[in-house]
Order: sequence, then C-alpha cells, then structure tokens
Amino acid sequence: MDQSQTSSVGVNATAAASSAANAPLALRGDSLVKRFGAVTALDGVSLTLGKGEILGILGDNGAGKSTLVKILTGFHQQTSGTLHIDGEETLLRSVDHARSLGIECVYQDLALANSLSIYHNMFLNREIVRRGPFRLLDHKQMRERAAQCLDDIGVHVPSVDLPVERLSGGQRQAIAVARAVNSNAKILLLDEPLAAMGAREAGLIIDLLMRLKEKGGLSIIMIMHNYAQTLGIADRIMLMQRGRVTYEQQSALTSVAELMDIVQREYRAMRASSAQ
Ligand SMILES: Nc1ncnc2c1ncn2[C@@H]1O[C@H](COP(=O)(O)OP(=O)(O)OP(=O)(O)O)[C@@H](O)[C@H]1O
Ligand SMILES: [Mg+2]
Repeated sequence: MDQSQTSSVGVNATAAASSAANAPLALRGDSLVKRFGAVTALDGVSLTLGKGEILGILGDNGAGKSTLVKILTGFHQQTSGTLHIDGEETLLRSVDHARSLGIECVYQDLALANSLSIYHNMFLNREIVRRGPFRLLDHKQMRERAAQCLDDIGVHVPSVDLPVERLSGGQRQAIAVARAVNSNAKILLLDEPLAAMGAREAGLIIDLLMRLKEKGGLSIIMIMHNYAQTLGIADRIMLMQRGRVTYEQQSALTSVAELMDIVQREYRAMRASSAQ
C-alpha cells in the first residue's frame, strides 16, 4: 500500500493534503467537531482513508466513534470541520446523499427488515421493477441477483426466500454487509460488525471482509472493540478517546500490548487529574 496515502492525524494532515492532490484519498476529514447541546462528541477529529484501505477505529464507550461514522454517512452534519470525498470538498446533506456518492453504512443497530426475505432486504429501497406501466417488482431478477451476490462473497444461506428473522446474528450481519457491497459502495462503514457475535459468526464476517479486501477497490472503516481482531483485519488503526484521536498507526507497527498501555496511561492521567 502507498504509505503516503495513509498518513493522517494532526501534524500529518498537511502531508495527507499534499498526497491527496496527486492521488485522491477515498475520504478525508479535517478538524471535525460535533456538539449535541452541551455535549462535545467530537472535538477536532482528522482522518484519512486510502483507496482499498481498511481503517479500524478503536475506543471506549462514548469516545465518539459512532458519531464520527454518522457524520461520514450523512446521518449527522458536523458542527465544524470539512470532509473531502474522492478529493472533492463535500458537505454530506443526508444518508441518501452519501449513498449517491458510494458511501454505505452498516449501523450498530442493524437496519434490516426482519420479517422480509433475504432478497427483499438486499434490494430494500432500491427494488428492481419490471418495464411497463404498472412498475411491478421483478422478484425473479432480485432473487437471482441476491443469490449471485451472496455467492460471490461466500455467504451461504439455504434460500434467499427465507425471512431474515430465521437467520443467525452472524448471517444477518453478513446480509447487511452484502447489501452494502451489492450497492456498488466505494466506501463501506461498519459500526461494530462483530458485536454480540460468537467466534464462528465473527469468523464469517472476518472472512467476508478479508475477501472484499482481496477483491480490492473498496475502502472500509470499521469500529471494533477487540484490539487483536482489529489488528488482524485492519491495515491501520485509530484510537479515539473522549472525542479525539489519541493514537494512529499502521497495524503492522503496533500491538495489543502497546494499545492497552496507551489506554491505561490515559486512565491513570485522568484519575490523577480528577484527584487533584
Ligand atoms: N444524538 C445524540 N444526542 C446527544 N448526545 C449524543 C448523541 N449521540 C451521541 N451522543 C453523545 O456523544 C458521545 C459520543 O457518543 P458515540 O455514540 O459517538 O460513542 P461511541 O464511541 O460510539 O460509543 P460506544 O462504544 O458505546 O458505541 C456520548 O457522550 C454520547 O452520549
Ligand atoms: Mg457506538
């Protein structure tokens, strides 16, 4: 991977900007601030995402991870700061606007319609309709394309006619990821894709992400809690604490021990300052 595309936080922002001039990054955020009334959820976050890169975001509860992803997906608008998508400064007005630019998100609380079939879910809000005056849904084509898409990315289900509620948590996550991929996403945002999953189900998603990475072309940001899993999947990690990015490194150049050490040092500093 081109190292010049992956530099990012704070002092490296200028380097990221100059590399973006030559080869646009998939995404760049500068000094993003998000306030909810008196709460500052993001306190000046800068980040970059190279094309084809997987960026893992780590951090405690309430660190601002989901808020950042919701800004990148057009769900929230930042209070201040700028976003560049594919080299163009862009103010994301809505989730639909972000989607039109190839940004898809699999949210922490999955947005699947449980009573609908797998193939219906795969085409939710972008159903294929037959030609003609009545605009009837083309079930045959949606079924075939859903089955093909799942097959392509190695997700095995007994039938795409099954309602989603009959699937396991891991399979549901896989369908949500498949749906996002199926939409020709260029940037995929995953908010805790492995949350509440057993080892086998988490393995399914990890395999899927690794296959997507091998296929290339897709840039991914994923929020995770497990350091070891994240270092195993992501090219680069970013640690968020209290609305800021406190550490950022290529996965190959850090370790679980180093990350734990940074987090513990931070706690000790916080305890010491609150005791004064
Ligand atoms: N819609 C909202 N209105 C008010 N405050 C919010 C809103 N969304 C998030 N916050 C606050 O912003 C801060 C960051 O929340 P966020 O959900 O981004 O954290 P997170 O890092 O995703 O945490 P977790 O790991 O628990 O999912 C928290 O203090 C939270 O209470
Ligand atoms: Mg969250």
